[in-house]
Amino acid sequence: MNNHASVPVGVLGASGYVGQELLRLLARHPGTAVAFATAESAAGEVADGHRLIKAEDAPLTKAEIVLSALPHGVSGRFVHQARAAGRRAVDLSADFRLSPAAVYGLTEFTRPRVAAAELVANPGCYPTAALLALLPLAQQGLIDASREVVIDAASGVTGAGRNPKRELLFGEVAEDYRAYAAGNTHRHLPELKASLAREGGFTGDLVFTPHLLPVKRGILETIHIPLTRVLDQGTAEGLYEMAYDGEPCVSVMKGALPSLKDVVYRNRVALGVAPVADVRRPRLTVIAAIDNLVKGAAGQAIQNMNVMLGLPETLGLVC
Ligand SMILES: NC(=O)c1ccc[n+]([C@@H]2O[C@H](COP(=O)([O-])OP(=O)(O)OC[C@H]3O[C@@H](n4cnc5c(N)ncnc54)[C@H](OP(=O)(O)O)[C@@H]3O)[C@@H](O)[C@H]2O)c1
Repeated sequence: MNNHASVPVGVLGASGYVGQELLRLLARHPGTAVAFATAESAAGEVADGHRLIKAEDAPLTKAEIVLSALPHGVSGRFVHQARAAGRRAVDLSADFRLSPAAVYGLTEFTRPRVAAAELVANPGCYPTAALLALLPLAQQGLIDASREVVIDAASGVTGAGRNPKRELLFGEVAEDYRAYAAGNTHRHLPELKASLAREGGFTGDLVFTPHLLPVKRGILETIHIPLTRVLDQGTAEGLYEMAYDGEPCVSVMKGALPSLKDVVYRNRVALGVAPVADVRRPRLTVIAAIDNLVKGAAGQAIQNMNVMLGLPETLGLVC
């Protein structure tokens, strides 16, 4: 598919935070039209001009490609149905991220496989930022596997989905900041480790601690990386610039560190580096910022969809 004729796209889970973002982005995508949009409790409501229907009533064959923003554990069933109906799919849940049935859609690193894929597993939000920060170093053997890579990450509250939960009430999160899933218990860790091994050949230890940040959207990760040799500021920045030369959705900041305002509403990961002074063995701190709903979910799914359909990769996206 090489022209810009409207490709019918089905959206599963369109009433959730990620599904809403998919509808927002698809509304200004010049090469697609929404074939159907589903919801569960919000079925019957209208979102972005689309009447939401139940997922089991979705006319799957009316879509050329199906994007699923259903909860993990639910998504797999509907994605299997879409595949059985002969439709290509991008699953934004965790259901296929460790499965050989899908291509892992970290676009910058798996682009040729995504192009040929029938089913793409869109990466998790935390892993997308961490992998784009770590893979250029891992691929060059610059990470010292005898020491741990420590990832301290903070996400806005939309990362937890739109279903009401007491611990996510405004009165609970506002003006607070807390860690959760400490001690390597977050479900993104296996995905992160598997991708780091597969794409970067790195099998060392990671320590991953997510935090809840009282903003709506955005993730900032502070990644402490033990190095096999000293990298000064210019060399480290040059290495990232070379790794992402020509990549429209990765921005390497020179002499500066990214913050959330560099990435919100954009399909972009912003990276900044700082060699660590006053330590006996070489270390680099990398800061990675991403909008969890865009490059961390809906935007990357559309980037992958564009690659699958042979459309310009950033069509409909602001990087
Ligand atoms: N939030 C993020 O930052 C983020 C980032 C990356 C990936 N993801 C993944 O993307 C997916 C969606 O996340 P989200 O944050 O958008 O979740 P969410 O806000 O809870 O939305 C879930 C969607 O699925 C629908 N749904 C729930 N249970 C269903 C069922 N049993 N059958 C059919 N539909 C059902 C919901 O419909 P109703 O609301 O109408 O009931 C809603 O449309 C998840 O798998 C999540 O892990 C999320």
